[in-house]
Amino acid sequence: MSYILAIDQGTTSTRAILFDGQMQVAGRAQQEFPQHFPQAGWVEHDPEDLWNSTIETCRRVMAELDITAADIAAIGITNQRETTVVWDRNTGKAIHNAIVWQDRRTTSICETLRGAGHEPMISQQTGLLLDPYFSGTKLSWILDRVPGSREQAVKGDLLFGTVDSFLIWRLTGGASHVTDATNAARTLMYDIRQGEWSAEICGLLNVPMAMLPEVKDSAADFGVTQAEFLGGEIPILGVAGDQQAATIGQACFQPGMMKSTYGTGCFALLNTGDTPVASKNRMLTTIAYQLEGRPTYALEGSIFIAGAAVQWLRDGMGMIENAAQTGELAPKADPGQDVLLVPAFTGLGAPYWEPDSRGAVFGLTRNSGPAELARAALQSVGYQTRDLWEAMRADWGGDTDVTLRVDGGMSASDWTMQSLSDLLGAAVDRPVMQETTALGAAWLAGMRAGIYPDQDGFAKTWALDRQFTPQLAAASREVAYARWKRAVQAVIGI
Ligand code: G3P
Repeated sequence: MSYILAIDQGTTSTRAILFDGQMQVAGRAQQEFPQHFPQAGWVEHDPEDLWNSTIETCRRVMAELDITAADIAAIGITNQRETTVVWDRNTGKAIHNAIVWQDRRTTSICETLRGAGHEPMISQQTGLLLDPYFSGTKLSWILDRVPGSREQAVKGDLLFGTVDSFLIWRLTGGASHVTDATNAARTLMYDIRQGEWSAEICGLLNVPMAMLPEVKDSAADFGVTQAEFLGGEIPILGVAGDQQAATIGQACFQPGMMKSTYGTGCFALLNTGDTPVASKNRMLTTIAYQLEGRPTYALEGSIFIAGAAVQWLRDGMGMIENAAQTGELAPKADPGQDVLLVPAFTGLGAPYWEPDSRGAVFGLTRNSGPAELARAALQSVGYQTRDLWEAMRADWGGDTDVTLRVDGGMSASDWTMQSLSDLLGAAVDRPVMQETTALGAAWLAGMRAGIYPDQDGFAKTWALDRQFTPQLAAASREVAYARWKRAVQAVIGI
């Protein structure tokens, strides 16, 4: 009973990671699944793919290590957030594909609500902004589009959930319709101060409250897996949205601590302790984790394109064969050229929230080539993080622990992390543990199961791999950042 199984159901792949009793990775399995783009700006997942890839990766990692359900003390789940699933309680089948967080189809619903003056109330209750990113308008869209679904939901036959909720319902054979506070905080329907679903917002979105899951702490009893799936009954004891799980995995437990995760997008969270800080700079207020009934809040900056800019160089432009090549090309870029990329491919997230903006490249010369574009793509990650860094620190007001803890695929690139430190003018700390998201979920479950240390003990296990400190002169940094700000304004204005 000394293992913890972490399920990380992400946007492009599902992973199952087994942690041993010392919180070290014992094995992992990963499976990609298809992305569906039915129209421009729409992104869907087949919920059966999410489910099947979860079961298959769990079974695979258990088989590889020759581990049975009896060896696993608990499961922790972390997941892509906001992605919306509606399923039939009687058949277990979803009534529509999952609408993914990146999907922009509900822009007009958001505009209508904003036009009617509802944004201040919604922001006050949920900490979020009226953007199609969040679940509420996606759920409303499904109920509008699938005939009879609202009536079925009122009768209690249809259930809503973010991906964690859907997976738990399936794993427990329909016994648990639950979520945790971090996932609830991303739905646009949860009052993060009162700790309850908002009847007022559900009314505006015309969402029957009978279809909403019960909201629990991030470490809690979420149910027990049915033996048919993983060969035995395993308690699910930890749940957190993936960015919150990374915050936990990075042990950002003190107010003022901040982490930034570089995957497809980039998500930075700053722990603000017991106080939900309302942003004056268009950051989000969210729940970092909830333990023993007490929420710890965070400011969050979400940017939609980070690693995706590198993917664009590879898949869209055919300029590189693999992502790591950008780290080799960037140092070779001509220092005399200032090619700058604003990667607003799917609009701009925080702090601009401009869903209709599109990307642009500035400063091209006849000599601009792959090296200059690679450097521009990697630097765009640093500039966007600087935007979040400035906004969050201004909102927070208090002293921040002025280092940034980083994780995610791009944090492996020394060049990118050095450039990030240069553009922030602050230290960037990369931990030894690369699996921070899965570790966060595993720790929640393992702590609840009594086999992992408490919060303080866990924080002490965080270990530094490398610290990057600014090498760029402050004046050069500010000139470069001012140019970035002008470029963003040009993109918004065009
Ligand atoms: O808010 C969206 C975020 O949770 C998605 O994360 O890692 O699946 O791209 P990821």
